[in-house]
Amino acid sequence: MATAVGSVGADAGDSVGGGADSGTEYERAFDAAVAADERIEPRDWMPDAYRATLVRQIAQHAHSEIIGMQPEANWITRAPSLRRKAILMAKVQDEAGHGLYLYSAAETLGTGRDELLDKLHSGRQKYSSIFNYPTLTWADVGAIGWLVDGAAITNQVPLCRCSYGPYARAMVRICKEESFHQRQGYELLLALSRGTPEQHAMAQDAVDRWWWPSLMMFGPPDDESQHSAQSMAWKIKRHSNDELRQRFVDICVPQAESLGLTLPDPDLRWNEERGHHDFGPIDWTEFRNVLKGDGPCNEERLTRRRRAHEEGAWVRESAAAYAAKHTPGETGAIRA
Ligand SMILES: [Fe+2]
Ligand SMILES: [Fe+2]
Repeated sequence: MATAVGSVGADAGDSVGGGADSGTEYERAFDAAVAADERIEPRDWMPDAYRATLVRQIAQHAHSEIIGMQPEANWITRAPSLRRKAILMAKVQDEAGHGLYLYSAAETLGTGRDELLDKLHSGRQKYSSIFNYPTLTWADVGAIGWLVDGAAITNQVPLCRCSYGPYARAMVRICKEESFHQRQGYELLLALSRGTPEQHAMAQDAVDRWWWPSLMMFGPPDDESQHSAQSMAWKIKRHSNDELRQRFVDICVPQAESLGLTLPDPDLRWNEERGHHDFGPIDWTEFRNVLKGDGPCNEERLTRRRRAHEEGAWVRESAAAYAAKHTPGETGAIRA
């Protein structure tokens, strides 16, 4: 995938020169493709800002997938049965795969995985603030699957139609797997909710703690969202943060009823006129603090990630050595 990048508009870029690209043939072709809902591919000309926006978004998304492995991996050794352990391991492994698809999609834009990981490890790029909350009980695994993966699906299904081809295609597969994650979370919570009074209380407590952070996953309100308008014009984004958040609330309310659990919002009620559920105000101060690095687990997540990266150095080196040895024409090893 990365090799395609080398040839990205090398000539196109030269001829438009220094970012003064308005009104060029290339820009008109790009605008027409976006308007016609066609996909922009790695070798196509694209505005620098479009490329930069995609790299930023895909990187943040990829980082969230791999940091998101940590809160749940925390419960693999303590899963209550072999069946639950196998399911949880499969889910955590899926998240690693999602990271891989997304880092590969970013590579098609000319940004390597090493550079992105370096930015994550040094705190220059963010991941979703939801993963800075701790997983205190087994029920948290259910609440994460139902609410966090559920919010991720609501956000990500429209990305399957994103204007950038490699990102859109990665999202198709990711969404299928996320939907399995959401169902396993729902099923886990249902088992607890129908279990002993203690199990029911544990499920309710987890939902109480994860509900508001999962609403914050859709990002700041539309009137404060810096990047939204341009991303919508480029068809990277198809719906606003508030629209997606509303969609998620409307999906969750009947599901919470079926689960026999209560969503922790006294203002939550059906609004006949709007045809949607009204819900209470979100505590954005908390969101900003967690985003800034003051969340309960920010330091722990990054420290563990850096350590995993260092400890995995030998795997990367071995893979690179193996690939070099088996590249025809370089060492001749394959044909020897
Ligand atoms: Fe994922
Ligand atoms: Fe997931």
